[in-house]
Amino acid sequence: MIIAIDGPAGAGKSSAAKKLSKKLEIEYIDTGAMYRAFAYKVLKSKCDYNNISEIKKLLSTTKINFNNGHIFLDGEKIDLQIRTNEVSKLSSQIATIKEVRKNLVDIQRNIANSKDAILDGRDIGTHVFPDASFKFFLTASPEARGKRRHLELKSKGVNEKLENVINDIKKRDFNDSTRDVSPLKPAENAIIIDTTNINLNEVVKLMTEIILEGK
Ligand code: CDP
Repeated sequence: MIIAIDGPAGAGKSSAAKKLSKKLEIEYIDTGAMYRAFAYKVLKSKCDYNNISEIKKLLSTTKINFNNGHIFLDGEKIDLQIRTNEVSKLSSQIATIKEVRKNLVDIQRNIANSKDAILDGRDIGTHVFPDASFKFFLTASPEARGKRRHLELKSKGVNEKLENVINDIKKRDFNDSTRDVSPLKPAENAIIIDTTNINLNEVVKLMTEIILEGK
């Protein structure tokens, strides 16, 4: 069973996916964390991401994997390092590069090939697993998403103006939905859930009911 959860930043995908994976006891794969991990590597290695041969070289020497809910880049645990503002912005830029997408999608398919899994991202239901058993598309107004992300950052000690957080989210929405390769959009048969006015528990309850009914 593959469960795809797609949608824009701050719609609540990863919180819902984590809760659902505990409830159903199946693996959770945070594909956004993989784009972030590669963006982090690009920053660290000072690679020119407009130079495709440099990107290809970097990809060939990069190992991204998950272990016990943690993400590792070349053996180093990088859960916190990939959550900075700088990495968030760069991740949606390197995510427009087709070679990067192909490489990361291959890893995602390999991990989920032999087991049940929940994957969250932008292109899971449309491209990575078009035959997924369940496809959800979570969305919410940019303001509601910005407020959530703002609170999340604050709880991590990052003080950023709400207005800036909302603007960054809008910029990433634009990058993600207008790129040529696997743009952000709901799959044709996705179940769309607008989370603007409903809380996380209600979202998870709704998803669980749909999954248990359809199993
Ligand atoms: O958590 P948040 O929604 O802020 O972002 P994320 O899911 O961690 O993803 C970071 C960036 O990676 C997104 O803005 C997308 O540009 C990119 N991404 C993608 O292109 N395809 C995916 N399947 C997942 C993420």
